[in-house]
Amino acid sequence: MEAIRFKNNRLFYLDQTKLPQKEIWKECQNLKEGFKTIKELKIRGAPLIGVFSAYCICIAMKKFSLKKEKFLKEFKEAVEFLKKCRPTAVNLFWALERLQKLVENNKDKKVEEIKEVVLKEAKKIHQEDATLCQRMANFGVKLIKPGDKILTHCNTGFLATAGEGTALGVIYKAYQVYKNIKVYVDETRPLLQGARLTTWELMKKKIPHALICDNTAAYLMQKKEINKVFVGADRISNEGDVANKIGTYNLAILSSYHRIPFYVVAPFSSFDLRIRKGKQITIEERSEEEVKKVLNKLEIAPKKVKAVNFAFDVTPHYLITTIITDRGIIKPPFKENIKKMLK
Ligand code: MRU
Repeated sequence: MEAIRFKNNRLFYLDQTKLPQKEIWKECQNLKEGFKTIKELKIRGAPLIGVFSAYCICIAMKKFSLKKEKFLKEFKEAVEFLKKCRPTAVNLFWALERLQKLVENNKDKKVEEIKEVVLKEAKKIHQEDATLCQRMANFGVKLIKPGDKILTHCNTGFLATAGEGTALGVIYKAYQVYKNIKVYVDETRPLLQGARLTTWELMKKKIPHALICDNTAAYLMQKKEINKVFVGADRISNEGDVANKIGTYNLAILSSYHRIPFYVVAPFSSFDLRIRKGKQITIEERSEEEVKKVLNKLEIAPKKVKAVNFAFDVTPHYLITTIITDRGIIKPPFKENIKKMLK
């Protein structure tokens, strides 16, 4: 099960805006198309954005000059251009900066050789992400018990990573091991990643689940129908504040009120140790139309109404029980423990 494929130097992706009704694979042929594919959420999810952006550079590179100076300039411009497609998920910047650094370290080689090094690194980033997912699942499963009733938000599975997923990867592993767990899926307004993508994944995996409206979580917690929450992350500050899909913060507050553990699952590539506090993270604002219409089609509000559409929010570290990474489980105090784990 995969969301992107890189074959014979060609980049293909499953268009997630068409799911769950249609499974349509498309080819990304140039940098501009790559930019649009990410911006329009045809591919999405923090780790997958990182992997896909690395491949976008490989596709763009095919047309770059063979003259060294010009190649280096074109490479840098492509990286800077792609960095502008979405601002919050740090994995995008992490992957692009990793390639840029590699080019700088290899700039004495011939252009053809540099291209090969970059291609190899992009494939490595891809493979690495799949392995990171397995590692997070192995650590995370230890926090789940048979009979658990778990709520998850947005989509954090194989459509959001190059492997089995972050939070959803842990849930898949838990189902494999225990079978009797219950999964609740938040619809995740406005773009419905939960309703459209997470349920689609869970169905493919034949894992029983129930879809709920975003505003149902509190009631289910009150009824003790939810006893754990697992979410992913788009960027984590060095104090452990977590930017993730809008609505994550609501769930963290509800979990704290109901004394339910709130778990964040993320690979090291989602940490931004240059940032101390969550409020320093740039939060993407998207078009009003996404709120005023259902999936850009059905109008649900008067045409002239004003809407506000933040794609992410920041959950402060003190509302998080544990962060599960590919390197192990991090407990509070996060600032000290993140530093120890990731150094
Ligand atoms: O706007 P999206 O769909 O890219 O947002 C995705 C999320 O918020 C996920 O929870 C996040 O990327 C972490 S998990 C892979």
